[in-house]
Amino acid sequence: MIISSVNYKGGVGKSTLTQNLAVALAHRDYKVCIVDADVTAATMDWAEMRHENEIEPQITCIQLTNPKSFSSQVKKQYADGQYDVLIIDCPPTLSPVAVKAMYISHYLFIPLNTTGGSDIKVTEKLLARFQEIKEAKEEGGGKIEAHLLANGFRNGITLHSEGIKDIKELSKHYEVGMFKTIMHNRVAYGEANSVGYGVIELGDQKAKAEIEALIDEILAIALKQA
Ligand SMILES: Nc1ncnc2c1ncn2[C@@H]1O[C@H](COP(=O)(O)OP(=O)(O)OP(=O)(O)O)[C@@H](O)[C@H]1O
Ligand SMILES: [Mg+2]
Repeated sequence: MIISSVNYKGGVGKSTLTQNLAVALAHRDYKVCIVDADVTAATMDWAEMRHENEIEPQITCIQLTNPKSFSSQVKKQYADGQYDVLIIDCPPTLSPVAVKAMYISHYLFIPLNTTGGSDIKVTEKLLARFQEIKEAKEEGGGKIEAHLLANGFRNGITLHSEGIKDIKELSKHYEVGMFKTIMHNRVAYGEANSVGYGVIELGDQKAKAEIEALIDEILAIALKQA
């Protein structure tokens, strides 16, 4: 499967999700390749740290940012049959590369913060674009699914519980899924990112449990489609 971690909004956790998905799937013996489609190359840097620190399992990460050759190169990488899962870490813009990534994906995972406001507004723009892409793909006999992922949740704060309600509304309105798993605001995500790990490889058991639960949900969705 080809998955895009996408949102036009910056700083919502696209790269965090990409890295943690890749690590968790690799630990479950899936052959995973990350495509870093962002010129800032944050996930390439993370993968290099993982390589330098000799953290197993190693995860292949390639950078593809040229809109002209993007789709063909991703498709070629996938068609080789070397990988079960390609995860595209998208840039935070309405760029041609982000749109192309959506067209060639089977699944879009769309993180957004539970602080509401511009995260909701920008995600609405993305979902409007997604609907067009979905229609175009279906006309050509293809399929695509999208799921929203609430990220950065903080317990006991009204802003965040209201944010969850807003995300549920978005999911209903645009007829896309929403993961039951919620990623809470945890230091572990930043710590893992800065040293080339996924949170399941470090000590925070709650972070580990939420990523494992998310992977269970993702695999259930993928198996249903297969
Ligand atoms: N659940 C979380 N808890 C705490 N920190 C988080 C969480 N998710 C992401 N972060 C932190 O928030 C920052 C932004 O996350 P990340 O880089 O994954 O977002 P992004 O959407 O890829 O950003 P960009 O649009 O710049 O590519 C990072 O410092 C990351 O470590
Ligand atoms: Mg990023």
